[in-house]
Amino acid sequence: MASNSGRRLNIDNINPHVRAAKYAVRGELAVKSEEYRAALQNGATDLPFKQVISANIGNPQQLDQKPITFIRQVLSILENPALLEKGDVLVNHLGYKPDVLERAKKLLAAVGSVGAYSPSNGAPAIRQSIAEFLERRDGFPANPADIYMSAGASSGVNTLLHIICADEKSGVLVPIPQYPLYTASLSVLNATCVPYYLDEQKNWGTDLATIRAAHEKAKAEGVDVRAIVIINPGNPTGASLPEEDIRAVIEFARQERLVILADEVYQTNVFIGEFISFKRMLRQMQKEQPGTYDNIELASLHSVSKGMIGECGHRGGYFELVGFDPLVQAEIYKFVSIMLCAPVIGQCLVELMVNPPKPGEPSYDLYIQEYNAIFNGLHERATALHKAFEQMEGVECGVPQGSMYLFPTIKLPPKAAKAAAAEGRTPDEFYCLRMLEATGVCVVPGSGFGQKEGTLHFRTTFLAPGTEWVGSIVKFHKEFMDKYR
Ligand SMILES: Cc1ncc(COP(=O)(O)O)c(C=O)c1O
Repeated sequence: MASNSGRRLNIDNINPHVRAAKYAVRGELAVKSEEYRAALQNGATDLPFKQVISANIGNPQQLDQKPITFIRQVLSILENPALLEKGDVLVNHLGYKPDVLERAKKLLAAVGSVGAYSPSNGAPAIRQSIAEFLERRDGFPANPADIYMSAGASSGVNTLLHIICADEKSGVLVPIPQYPLYTASLSVLNATCVPYYLDEQKNWGTDLATIRAAHEKAKAEGVDVRAIVIINPGNPTGASLPEEDIRAVIEFARQERLVILADEVYQTNVFIGEFISFKRMLRQMQKEQPGTYDNIELASLHSVSKGMIGECGHRGGYFELVGFDPLVQAEIYKFVSIMLCAPVIGQCLVELMVNPPKPGEPSYDLYIQEYNAIFNGLHERATALHKAFEQMEGVECGVPQGSMYLFPTIKLPPKAAKAAAAEGRTPDEFYCLRMLEATGVCVVPGSGFGQKEGTLHFRTTFLAPGTEWVGSIVKFHKEFMDKYR
């Protein structure tokens, strides 16, 4: 697009690293899907579909997932504490349980007002509650001073990468396929992404030989590799890493002196296997071999965006640091201070996520019923979508393991690849664009996450309710294959 020369800023003189960054989950297809959505809202009748399904991003409540009652009841009081003056109305007429009021009072005492800034690293009482959760989860203590609240995990990743990357030679090992936050942030920082491929044949597990080879190659090219990102359970793949893989990564990080960034935002979205936190495994290894793993630096991230809560619009999250130099930690504190603090209502949401109603408490029954219904609904949708993929010619997909996505391989006819090239697109992009145009379903081409040379994929969430949209993908696929056969 031509620059408007009258303006001080134009596309050629802004930060080139921002221009270079790619973020496919909100890229061209997503923009086009929003145009379709607006057209449908304005009464367009010339489109071959009646609704747009945004299967490009893990945004549960946009796709009709209902917020969990306990959480929203507490939040409603936090936003409007005057409701507490009418506690009897809340309890007797609006179905609020007494523990909702108690929790709201406790959180209000912790933060003062959700309209006020908190300390830069988050409200102390909330960090204390997170530390208690981590101890219950892992069986090892956590220190609230090592916990930093963030505006979703994204801002935590942004903080950590800013601290880790000193210059363009600073490298970070990033899994491929991956959620593009990492590649895009490294681009913006003008640091070096060191990709390592996950093993599709092993349910997208980590293969240490591949990681080692990627690391060696980068080192030989003069890259100062400083950290390794592990997404567990994975996005886009949903795979939960087994204990031996986690141990192997920790051992590798020790040998190569790498900071571990464990992105654990899908820790409760696990259908197969068991989520094992890096923190638990590290503490376990430290216990088994005293002294050997003392110098490991681990940052693990969590968020309110996923799980069964799916409150991604509230932007709540945190990261926990283990083994960081206190002087580095002081700079992290300073860095987060520059943004003042994470949204305080999001911090309260984190507290509600890590400390939900317990058995016997008044809100528990409804909470657990809603939680389980969301979990089972996600599993059922994932299974139905997987079944549909099994019927589709040239499509292969591992059984759903977790997270919110499926990432099938697609084999497209050479004629489709030719037609894609004629449009200056990759075949997977071409396929996903045609799918959007035909069905209103917006998915993301595998190239947006990285994929092995010669392979094609797409990523779709399994959040959308109903089966009609799945049927429309099956129909589109058949017609596409017939056209380009
Ligand atoms: C693996 C992974 N990490 C981090 C994020 C960012 O989530 P948020 O910033 O909403 O917490 C996402 C979002 O989809 C993700 O999939």
